[in-house]
This record gives sequence, C-alpha cells and structure tokens, in this order.
Amino acid sequence: MIKKYVFGKPFETNAVIENFDECKDKIKEFSINETSSSFEFARQLDDDDIIYGLGENVRGINKRGWIYESYATDEGRHTETAKSLYAAHNFILFYCSSPFGVFVDAPFKVTFDLGYSKMDEAKIILHEKNFKIYIIYGENVNDIVKNFRKAIGKSYLAPFWSFGYMQSRWGYKSSDECRQVVKQFRENDVPIDALFLDLDYMNGCRVFTTNEKDFPDFPEFVSEMRQQDVRLVPIIDAAVKAEKGYEISDEGEKLGYFCKDENGNDYVGCVWPGYTYFPDYLNTEAGQWFASKYQYFTDMGIEGFWNDMNEPAIFFSKKMLEDLQTEIAERKDSPFDAGDYFNLRQKVNFLWDYKEIYHNVNGEKIRHDHVHNLYGYNMTKSASVGLEKIEPDKRFLLFSRSSYIGMHRYGGIWTGDNQAWWSHLLMFLQQLPSLNMCGFLYVGSDIGGFNSNTTEDLSLRWTALSVFVPLMRNHNGTERPQEWYNFIHKDWFKDIIKSRYRLLPYIYSEYLKAVHNYDMMFKPLSFVFPDDSYVTQVEDQLMLGENIMIAPVYTQNAKGRFVYLPEDMLMVKMFGDQIETEELDKGNVYVTVPYNCVLFFMRKGTLIPLYDSAVSTEKLIKNKIKVLCFTDEGDAEYEMYYDDGKTKSCEPKKLEILVENESAYCNSNDFQITVLAEYMNNIF
Ligand code: GLC
Repeated sequence: MIKKYVFGKPFETNAVIENFDECKDKIKEFSINETSSSFEFARQLDDDDIIYGLGENVRGINKRGWIYESYATDEGRHTETAKSLYAAHNFILFYCSSPFGVFVDAPFKVTFDLGYSKMDEAKIILHEKNFKIYIIYGENVNDIVKNFRKAIGKSYLAPFWSFGYMQSRWGYKSSDECRQVVKQFRENDVPIDALFLDLDYMNGCRVFTTNEKDFPDFPEFVSEMRQQDVRLVPIIDAAVKAEKGYEISDEGEKLGYFCKDENGNDYVGCVWPGYTYFPDYLNTEAGQWFASKYQYFTDMGIEGFWNDMNEPAIFFSKKMLEDLQTEIAERKDSPFDAGDYFNLRQKVNFLWDYKEIYHNVNGEKIRHDHVHNLYGYNMTKSASVGLEKIEPDKRFLLFSRSSYIGMHRYGGIWTGDNQAWWSHLLMFLQQLPSLNMCGFLYVGSDIGGFNSNTTEDLSLRWTALSVFVPLMRNHNGTERPQEWYNFIHKDWFKDIIKSRYRLLPYIYSEYLKAVHNYDMMFKPLSFVFPDDSYVTQVEDQLMLGENIMIAPVYTQNAKGRFVYLPEDMLMVKMFGDQIETEELDKGNVYVTVPYNCVLFFMRKGTLIPLYDSAVSTEKLIKNKIKVLCFTDEGDAEYEMYYDDGKTKSCEPKKLEILVENESAYCNSNDFQITVLAEYMNNIF
C-alpha cells in the first residue's frame, strides 16, 4: 500500500507512474512543522532503528548519523563530509518496529538530517513548499521496496554485451591509441566488449562532431572495432559549445531550445568546450531536438552512450565572470586584506548560480533551482526516447552521471569521479543496495578510481568486486594509466576478468529478475536474514540475489578478511578457469583471498550456472552451462532468467535447473547442462 500526500502545487517530475489518489489523512509517521519557507518532517528514532536508501550518496548502507542534501552536484572528491553527489535519490526506508518507506518527490533541494543534529531524530527538510510525499508500506522490507519500485516503473534494460568488460580512459587521444589498447586485450586473450571514448574524439569538445585529424574515418573505425567484438561508446556532454557556425549551436539558438537568463537571452556558462549553451531538456521539444542528434552516431553503428556533465556542471557563468572582472578592476587601487582575499576565493570557486538559469516548460518560465534535480534525468530520458524513435526495439547502452528517480526507466548510472581510495571501494559496495532500492540496477563505478593515482592491489580488488556489478568499466583521468597491462601481475587481472564472463549467466539472470520482478539485485543481509539480529551491523557484505553472498577485500595489504556467515555456506574462490570450494560453518570466519581471486559464498540447496569464459560476450557459448552446486540432501536448484539480450520487447525466459544426485535436469532442450562434479559438496 502507498499513500500519496500533496503539498501546494508540485512540479510534475513523472518519477511515479502508478496512479494514487491523494490521501487527506494526517501523516502518522512524522510530526510536521511548517515555516515561512519550508516544511520539516520529524520522527524520533529508537536505538536500533536503521535508515536505508538515498541511492547514490556517501557513507554507509545504514544512512543514520549524517546530514545529506539532495541537490545534484558535480563533486569530484566524495569525501565523508560531502552531503550530495551527482544524483538526487529521495527514497529512504525506516527499518524499525513497523518498517515503511518514504519517497520525497521534490525536484529542488531537500535535506535529510538523519540523526545528525539530534542523534535520535530524523528530519526531512523541504526547502520549498510544492511537493509530493509518498509513504510506502509492505509486509516486510523487501515488499516495501517492491511496492515502491512498481510505483516508479520498470528499470532500464541494458543490452547483454554491456555486461562484458569495458575499458575507458580520459586520455585516449587518437583512434590509433584506441587500437593499441584493444590490441593488448585481444593479443593476450583478456576479454573486452567495449571501449569508451572521452572528450578527445570530438572536434574541440563540440557534441555530435568527431575529431577528423586524430580520429579520421570515424565510421570505418567503428566497424573495424566492431569486427573485433568491441563496441565504441562515445561520451555525450550536456552542454553545447556557443559558437556561430557550429550547426548545433546555431540551430538551438534559432529554435529557442537553450536555457535562458532572466532577460530571456540564451544563458552562457563555461564547460569543457569554453562558452556553452545548455539545452533545455525540461522542454520536451528541445530534448527531442537534442536527442535526434544521436542519430549522427547510430548511423555509424554506435550502440551505446554515456551522458555526462548533466547536473549540469558549470565551471563559471559568463555574466558572473564579467561581474567579477569589473569588481576587481574597480577595486584596483583599494586596500585588499585577508578577508577580501577569502571572499574573492569563495567567489571564484562558485562563479555560477543556478538561479541565473530559466527553463521553458509548456510556456511557463521556471527558474532552474526549483527543478534542478531533473536536468540530468531529462537529458537521459530525451536520449532514450530519441533512440527509441531511431530503432524502436533495440536496447542501447545508455547511462548518465546525474539522475533522479524516474530516470531509472531510461538508463543506468555510473557513480562519477570517485578517487583511487580504498574507502571508495567500500563506499561503492555500500551504494549498491541503496541504488537498487531507487530503481537503478544497471550501475557501476570507475574501477581503480577516477581521480588520484591507483595502485595495483587496489585495482585488483576493485575489479574483483566489479565482477558482480552490471556495469564493469575501468575508467580514470589521472596520470597513472590503469589498464591491467600497465601492472606487473597481468595474469591476475586476466583471471578476474575471465571469472566475470564465467559468472555472467548468474549475474545477468539476477539482473533480469531484479528488473522484471521489481526486486533488488544487491541486498543488505538484513533483507534476507531478518531474524539474525547481528546482520544489521554488517556493512561490508551483500547478498547478490537470494543465493550468494559477496564479501570483497577493501583494505590494502590484506591477505584476506573476516566474513560473517549467517548460516552454513559454501565458500567459492574463482580464479578464471580454476575454482576452489570449501564448506564453512555459520559464524565469523577469516578467509584468505589471493589477489586473483573472486570470492563468494553460496547458500545450501542452490547452484550457480557458469559459462566457459570467452574473449567477448559474443563468443560465449550460451547454451552450454556448467553448474556449481551446494546441495542439500543431494539436491540443488536455480531458476535462471535469460533473454535475447538485444530487444526491448522480449520477455525473459526461465530455465529451471535441477541437480539431483550429481545429474542435472532442465526444462529446455536448447541447453546442455553439466555438473561440475569435482566441486560438489554434501552430495552423498
Ligand atoms: C567528467 C566525467 C569523467 C570524464 C571527464 C572528462 O569528470 O565524470 O568521467 O572522464 O568529465 O570528460
């Protein structure tokens, strides 16, 4: 059950697509305090209450104890003290005596003070007065999340090839350099499915152009890579270089499709290309105009895109820079003290203001800060709708940096410019269930870390965690190259990446289940073992589907880690083609984890379908499946979801796999299933 409460006249975000009548009862979960400019919803917290949610954000799985702000921000450090990252995911779940969820559907700044100001109080502060609040109930936490997810609609379905390993770097300066990267993979039989193109492929960072000098014959380059089973995925930046003679700029100006300033002139900021206009994605026509430009690439055979800088990121506004220059010139001969210096520094750091920008939504002029959190969402929504017009049934790869709940129907996200820090490896693990609650299933982080120089061991451990994550992309922008072949233990990386391809039938199946059943792919342990009071404390292990538990190593120089087993489990260590297993008893246990190991734990009575590894998803032999079992009295079973991996309309098929006394059975003649008998435990 979901109750919808409406305050004032909310801006329609289209986050929720199920219809609910407005509830006029009093909200019983919170006390409400209205001030002249805000609403505050407060609730006492019991000692053991946990708060889950908030999607992409800093801190732990349990969000309690910190103050968060939903205000999409281009934040390149992601420290513990950050309050907002690139997204605004306003769903939280109170895990208390009568659990419930809350979705705050508000496109402006919202503060979630979850026990920060007062340790035993949660407060949600809405800084404007027009919004909707949904209170979501259910039989248990899983049910609450499902009810919410049904209300916000099915998550984006990514193509199967985008579950392959993907390589990226801000700094591949030419098509020849890209060829060299791919060559390393292919010559060494390290699997790869996609190579990402960052700013350099464009002509001077102008969107929907290519750099003729360094990336000549772009369409041929695309097909040459495709012949090697490598898809090229170009970056699409949100803003458009403001320049006479550049077609996109001229067209957008003429059609009035760019955001305006207060006086109705095109607003000019500065991003990578220099002075830029900002397409008004909240204006459907403008969004569709921009999206139609993706055809420039789809005509060349491009099948995937990453939308970036769409918070929107603005380095400075032209007007504010000019005002500052005038101020400095005027003060040339006046004294300048320390206070003036710090004021100036502050101004230079924040040389833009979202209040300068205006949208045209169905003829109504709306100031950007009131709808700020919807910009990246609408860029990606437009792209998805546009791509659907180009090829209606095709699954394109599409993911975005900024997002709001609702965007999960149109694309995935990556977690932006993280750091090559061990703490960010853990933070990513902790973000996974929160993202899933908010509908974002096709997600990933920059493996190895985007900023700061990585280390070989951090890259290995991060790759090992990402084996389980839908979007498995290594990307960075700092001096130290972090493709696997730049390190000493190349074979260790190879083992890990091969393990990913072996595990794909399980990973993809669990992804499909989460999409089609409105479920979470990654769950906190408390969602699966509600009667175990200890698991609510576990912040560094997750369930992947109902059958396996993951527990990555996330500290430097660690040869292994402590793991908590909520029940007897089978420990599985994968090393590419090799597998080791050991049955472990419930409780705390220390396990060693070599650097080339992908570690997970299976529940009893279950099995994991595996492929033989291959160098790309296209080379996988998908009808030959090997199963790894942890039987219960000789039996194990698994329902494997699969589909064509290419079209949107295809319904998932379900392969029932059953192992009984070392023999495997399934409900389809299309598959050949073999039991990995040498690893069978507990069978006789
Ligand atoms: C932003 C993106 C990053 C990209 C860079 C250059 O920082 O988050 O992934 O490499 O811009 O385009």
